Amino acid sequence: MVDENYADAFQNADAVGKYQHVTYAPGSYAWRINQRQRSYLRAVVRREFADLRPTQHDFACGTGRAIRNLHGLVWQAHGYDTSPEMLAEAVRMGTDARLHVVGTAGPVPEPAVTGGPALVTMFRLLLNVDDAVRERALAFAAKTLPDAEAGVLVVENHGNRRSLRHLRARRHAGRRWFAELSHDQVVRLLHRHGFEVVARRGFSMLTPGWYERPLLRHAARTADGLACRLPGSAAWAVNVVYVARRTA
Ligand SMILES: C[S@@+](CC[C@H](N)C(=O)[O-])C[C@H]1O[C@@H](n2cnc3c(N)ncnc32)[C@H](O)[C@@H]1O
Repeated sequence: MVDENYADAFQNADAVGKYQHVTYAPGSYAWRINQRQRSYLRAVVRREFADLRPTQHDFACGTGRAIRNLHGLVWQAHGYDTSPEMLAEAVRMGTDARLHVVGTAGPVPEPAVTGGPALVTMFRLLLNVDDAVRERALAFAAKTLPDAEAGVLVVENHGNRRSLRHLRARRHAGRRWFAELSHDQVVRLLHRHGFEVVARRGFSMLTPGWYERPLLRHAARTADGLACRLPGSAAWAVNVVYVARRTA
């Protein structure tokens, strides 16, 4: 379910440690998805910013995963987050960025003033937050990218409604016990802030359980890595990344 106090969940050392060392432990489901995303993101940045390296603005940067994924390809990076604990972990992880604590609500945060093109990244935020946080996050992106020439936005939906993950939700007597976000919801949210989707890519067709089954896990991981490269698979993927640009 959408968590109205989502920001609070990341304001303590236990949650930060769990995120960094359990959720993203080497070899885990999230870690493998991140490896795939890293290659894709680096190709997107090389393609979209062939002439001039962008400044990256990573909203809800947490421990700096998306920033470290692009090390060497951006001119400079700024990370924005509500949790000083997550930002402290980003520093410990060697994230090369200027980090900014922002409020959970209120006026849309101001992006750091920089010249040249911009890349806004937003990973693992939209799914679990309420509509007000989603709108505010996209308003930040629109402020940072005022027109189509300003750069690109990359956002992750790590709980696509039209995916295998949805079947698990239905097994629980029709009661949803985790959040889901549909492709249409993402597109409408982007449109409201003047963005159109220019690319979409899936990074896992399977749910985490498949990566842990004793006899199946090796085959499942390999097959999943291949399946999410097939044309059209993003529509059914659990984890989807969107590349978007302002329409005007
Ligand atoms: C699941 S973590 C994702 C971190 C990072 N983007 C990643 O993908 O690894 C969600 C992050 O969103 C931050 N957050 C929660 N509410 C927020 C808000 N209203 N504005 C900005 N960041 C927020 C949390 O502090 C946390 O670091």
